[in-house]
Amino acid sequence: MSEKKISVAIDGPSGAGKSTVAKALAKRFHLVYVDTGAIYRTVGLAAQRADVSSKDAEAIIALLPGLLIDIAYDAEGTQRMLLNGEDVSDEIRTPKSSIYASDVSAIPAVRAFLMDMQRGMAERYSVVMDGRDIGTVVLPKADLKIFLTASAEERARRRYIELQQRGSVATFAEVLRDIEYRDLQDSTRAAAPLKPAEDAVFIDSSHLSFEESVEAAAKLVREKLGE
Ligand code: DC
Repeated sequence: MSEKKISVAIDGPSGAGKSTVAKALAKRFHLVYVDTGAIYRTVGLAAQRADVSSKDAEAIIALLPGLLIDIAYDAEGTQRMLLNGEDVSDEIRTPKSSIYASDVSAIPAVRAFLMDMQRGMAERYSVVMDGRDIGTVVLPKADLKIFLTASAEERARRRYIELQQRGSVATFAEVLRDIEYRDLQDSTRAAAPLKPAEDAVFIDSSHLSFEESVEAAAKLVREKLGE
């Protein structure tokens, strides 16, 4: 396998638009999109189903050997998450799953358990991978590292609209509180905290439309590819 693989890392806080930008880049530049948050969400769901507290690191670590987690792609190229063979892609998107995902992702053994899966994807395919520690830990040699951010209020506003469209009854205050909880936990944890890589390029999407964020990121990819 000598063909050069391209890797684009997009890190940033919850709700900054990473997945929208990453999906658009994947389509435009023929990359495989890897949503690493979905992988942590799947571990979180397994803990939820086992009735284990998301703060009980010992019990969560004990679950890991029994978990078979796979990434699959459907006919449209959309990533699906499989937990012991069952497609759990929709179930991992509830507000409770978000908190569980953030909690379990703070456990170093969980991060280590998921590392090979993430690196393996980048070895096999040209990828655009989004998460919190992609540029700093998972793919420190990524060809391009983007740190995509936005104010907490703007991210909560977007998430609130998205949840409403899905029929959720969560209030704006609850959504903002969840975002702030996850921001604090994801960026202050000891294991691979959310932080920009030294060579990351910043995009602040607070005042950008999704299209403008995508264009800003696409411009960086074109520059890297020398197009
Ligand atoms: O991107 P997301 O909101 O779906 O991620 C869910 C949680 O998983 C998030 O709170 C932090 C964690 N996560 C992580 O620690 N490292 C990653 N590379 C991706 C997500």
